[in-house]
Amino acid sequence: MAVHLEKGCGMLTRRDLLKLSLLGGSTLIFPLEGLLPVPHAVGAYHDGGGGSPRVQPFQVPLPIPSVLTPAHPDPSTDYYEITMRQAEQEIIPGTRTTIWGYNGLFPGPTIVARSGRKTVVRQINNLPENMVVHLHGGHNPPERDGYPTDYIPPGGYKDYVYPNNQIAATLWFHDHTMDITGPHVYYGLAAFYILEDDVEAALPLPRGDNDVALAIQDRLFNADGSFNYPLTSQTLDTGVLGDTILVNGAVQPYFQVGTRKMRFRILNGSNAREYELALSSGQSFVQIGTEGGLLPAPIVRPSIRLAPAERADVVIDFSGYSLGSQIVLKNRLGSGSTGDIMRLDVVRSETDDSTVPSALRPLEVLQESSAVRTRTFYLSRDWRTGLWVINGKPFDPARVDAMPRLGDVEVWRFQNRSGMLHPMHLHDVMFQVLEINGRRPVYGRAWKDTVPVPAWGEARVITRFDDYLGTYVFHCHNIEHEDYRMMSQFEVMP
Ligand code: C2O
Ligand code: CU
Ligand code: CU
Repeated sequence: MAVHLEKGCGMLTRRDLLKLSLLGGSTLIFPLEGLLPVPHAVGAYHDGGGGSPRVQPFQVPLPIPSVLTPAHPDPSTDYYEITMRQAEQEIIPGTRTTIWGYNGLFPGPTIVARSGRKTVVRQINNLPENMVVHLHGGHNPPERDGYPTDYIPPGGYKDYVYPNNQIAATLWFHDHTMDITGPHVYYGLAAFYILEDDVEAALPLPRGDNDVALAIQDRLFNADGSFNYPLTSQTLDTGVLGDTILVNGAVQPYFQVGTRKMRFRILNGSNAREYELALSSGQSFVQIGTEGGLLPAPIVRPSIRLAPAERADVVIDFSGYSLGSQIVLKNRLGSGSTGDIMRLDVVRSETDDSTVPSALRPLEVLQESSAVRTRTFYLSRDWRTGLWVINGKPFDPARVDAMPRLGDVEVWRFQNRSGMLHPMHLHDVMFQVLEINGRRPVYGRAWKDTVPVPAWGEARVITRFDDYLGTYVFHCHNIEHEDYRMMSQFEVMP
C-alpha cells in the first residue's frame, strides 16, 4: 500500500511513518502522541501492498440483521441488553475476520422502537477499551446522548434511556469514543434503530419483509481476512477509504425480490466514502424519506448522493421486470470494486397491495424569518498540528462554541475552507437544509441530521433547539476528521 505524503504537511516524515509501522499496526499519529489513546490492534495495519483480497461480487445473499427482542417489556418501556464483544465473522470467503460488535455482530442487531414508548438499552462493555454509544439522529437528553468522554469502561455498563419523543425515522447507533470512534465503527460497532409511529404505520407503504434496511460500508482487508485500518497522512486527509464494499456486513451481496414494490432504508455507514446510488437498469428511485423521517411527498430521483451518515428511504418498484432480471445498485462515484454495491435479483412473481401515496407526512417548514440569529462555522485543516478544525479550533470538551436558547430557531452556516467534503452532523436536533452552494436541495424541505458541505463550498441549515438543555457535540461525520478533532459543541441555555 503506497503511502502518500501530503505536500505542505510538515506533520509526518518518512521516518515517522516507519516508526508507525514498527508499532505493529497500532494507530498513532505523531504530534498527537500522548494526547490520543492507541486503539486496540484488531484492525492491524500491515503494509503488505496490493489492497484487499479480491472477492467476486454477488456471491453471497444479503444478510438481514436480526431484530432484537426486549429482555422484558413493561407498559411504558422496552428494556434491551446488548453486550459489546469481540467475535469472528466470515466476510472474505475462506477467512475469519475479528470484529467488534454489538452482541458480537457486524452490523449489530436492529432495535425497532415506537414513538412515545421508552427504550432502555443496557450496553455492557466486554471489550478492552472505553466505549461510548450514540444514537445517531436521536433527540435525547445530553446525559443519554453518548458524549465522547462519557465512557463505559471495559467490564462496565451503561443504561441508555431513550424517550423516543420524535417522529418515525431510520436512526442508527454507533460508537462515539473520543478520538477512536473511527476504528471502533470500522471494526463493527454500528447498528440500525428504527423508530415507528402511528402516522407512518397508517400509510400503505411496503412493510414487513418488504421493508429492508441497508448499511453500506467500505473496508480494507489484509490477506488473512483481518480488517486493515490504516492511519497515514493520506487517510488523515481523506479519511479511511476501503476498496471493498459491504452491505449489512457482506461483500457486494445479492438480494432476491419479487415483482413488487420494496422499501429500502439506505444508510451510508462508511467512515469516509461518499456514494452516488443509481440502478443499472436506468430506473429511478422514489425517495420517501431522509434522516429524520418521511418527506412531505415522494420524489423521483435518477440517482442519490449520500455522504457518510446520510440516509435515504426509497421505494423501488420491480413490477416492470421479467423474472430473472438482475439489477445492480451502482455507485457512480466509484469504479472497479467500488463501483458496484449489490445486486437485486427478480426471482418470483408477487402481488402487491402497497402504494406510495402522493402525500406522505406534513412537514413543519422552519421559516428563515423566525430565525433569531445566524452562526457561521469555518471548516479547515490546521497544518501546524495536522488537526481538522472548526473556526480554527480543534475539539476541546472544556470549550463551548455556541449557546443557543431553548426554543430558538437559528440558521447555521458552514463554510468549507478545505478541498475535502465535510458531512456536518448535529446531535440533539434535526434540521432542514436551506441551501448547498446557493442552491436548494432536490429533496426540498426535509428533516436531516447530516449535511454535506462540499469542498470550498457552503451549506446553510435551519433548526430549532427544543426540549432539552445542556451540551451536545456537532462534528464532521468523516469519522477520521471527527477523531482528528473536527468537532465542537453547543450548549442549549434556558
Ligand atoms: Cu453519528 Cu456524533 O455521530
Ligand atoms: Cu449523532
Ligand atoms: Cu470532514
